[in-house]
This record gives sequence, structure tokens and C-alpha cells, in this order.
Amino acid sequence: MPNAIIVGASSGIGRALARELAGAYDLGLAARRTDRLQAVGEDVGGAHVARIDVTEPDARQRFDDLVESMGGVDLVVVSSGIGRPNPDLAWTDERDTIDVNVRGFSAIATAAVQRFEASGGGHLVGISSVAAEIGDPDMPAYGASKAYVSRYLEGLRYRSDDAVVVTDVRPGYVDTPMAPEADRFWECSPETAARGIARAIAKEKDVAYVTRRWWLVSKLLAVLPDRFRADVA
Ligand SMILES: NC(=O)c1ccc[n+]([C@@H]2O[C@H](COP(=O)([O-])OP(=O)(O)OC[C@H]3O[C@@H](n4cnc5c(N)ncnc54)[C@H](OP(=O)(O)O)[C@@H]3O)[C@@H](O)[C@H]2O)c1
Repeated sequence: MPNAIIVGASSGIGRALARELAGAYDLGLAARRTDRLQAVGEDVGGAHVARIDVTEPDARQRFDDLVESMGGVDLVVVSSGIGRPNPDLAWTDERDTIDVNVRGFSAIATAAVQRFEASGGGHLVGISSVAAEIGDPDMPAYGASKAYVSRYLEGLRYRSDDAVVVTDVRPGYVDTPMAPEADRFWECSPETAARGIARAIAKEKDVAYVTRRWWLVSKLLAVLPDRFRADVA
């Protein structure tokens, strides 16, 4: 069975994806809250668990140790991320968002791709967001960090031959501890999001919107005149 590592598997989308992929992959689960990772592992019939704080200097080493303990890795999903409403622009919130979503994301993404390039192939999946496509006045670092994630993944895809697959997943609203209150029409469950992500993985998509209606939203945002963008943000 192939091996998959999910970073950010202790909650929300990452946890639901662990449940979705169990059975098709041997799983490695990483995040800071190992008690929750253990519970997810028990839930899915066993998994390798590792405490990784993606912002810490040892994050890449801990990721490599997890890969070694599993005997290699075929699929890496980076779902770790934070997003805090921050209308007063508190610097600590902006800084933490950049630390986790930009620096931490890059630490794991580079470790994964370097490993895939050395071993002959693999699949990297980054969980970006539709928020990558429009500035957010209440949490500007969040949308900007997701724009970074999407563009970074594009760069990794362009450097890779066909052996290294890179998928950029852009969810809309998903009902998780991170998500702001959303209209039910716009929101999906973590389980629905996980099914969409699993489909994108199986199809080796370059970019996948979850749920698919967000593809249309993205196209509309792209052609919306500048003077209207602030009204929908
Ligand atoms: N929910 C939405 O509406 C939505 C929409 C678009 C995109 N997304 C993206 O989807 C991803 C998952 O978010 P979610 O909604 O599932 O939120 P969540 O339930 O809060 O899960 C976030 C995950 O990130 C992990 N994490 C946070 N900081 C970390 C750190 N320093 N090191 C390692 N892991 C860390 C958390 O684990 P620990 O706290 O245990 O470390 C947790 O497992 C994020 O990248 C988010 O930006 C979410």
C-alpha cells in the first residue's frame, strides 16, 4: 500500500481527509496536538503519528524522521494553516498567519519535493483557498498567504517532470474550527471537502476547487471590475 503523510491532521479538513484516505494508504499524521492525532490514528485503524510544529526550526527534520519511520512516502498533504479574523490588524495575528501559512508551508513543501525528486516521484498536495484570489480587509495576511501557497505550488509544478505531481486545492467555506460563520449554502462539511480532495488526488489535478461551485466563483472574481471587488471581499 502507498504511504501518505497529512500535516495538519489533528482537526478539520486534514482529519477528515485522513478518514477518507484510510484503507487506500498507510497514513502518517502530523500536527502539534499529538493526543488528537492519536485519536484520529485509532479511528482509522492505525497510523504513524508525529508532533510537528511547522514554524519550528526542526520541522523539516521531524518530517524527514516521520518519512523514514514509514519507509518512504508517496503522497504529502499540507493542510496545516491558521486564519484569524483581525480587523484591528494586530501584528501578532498577521505574523503568526505568515509564520504558519507561508514559512511553515514552504518548509514542508520543499522537504517533500526534494524527497520526491531524489526518490523518483511522488505527489504533493497543498491546501490553499479561494481566499487566494481576493484581498480580505479583515484578515489580509490570510488571503495573501494563500496566494503565496498557490503560486508556490505552481512554481514547484513547473520545475517538476511528470514524476512529481503537484496539486493546489482551493476550498471555499468548510465547516471547521477555523472557518468564520458562513451561510450554509456556501459551506460544506469537512467530509464533503475530503471527498473532493481525494477525487483531485486520484485524478492528479493541477488545481481543484472544493466544492466545485467555487470554480465558478473564482472565474467571476477574475473578471470582476476593480471597483466592485471591495464590495464582495
Ligand atoms: N475551513 C475553511 O473554510 C477553509 C477554507 C479554505 C482553506 N482552508 C484551509 O484548510 C486548511 C485546514 O484548515 P481547517 O479549516 O481544517 O482548520 P482547522 O480545523 O483549524 O485545522 C488546522 C490544522 O492545522 C494545524 N496547524 C496549525 N498550526 C500548526 C503548526 N504551527 N504546525 C503544524 N500544524 C499546525 C492544526 O493542528 P494543531 O493545532 O494540532 O497543530 C490543525 O490540524 C488550512 O490550510 C486552511 O487555511 C480552510
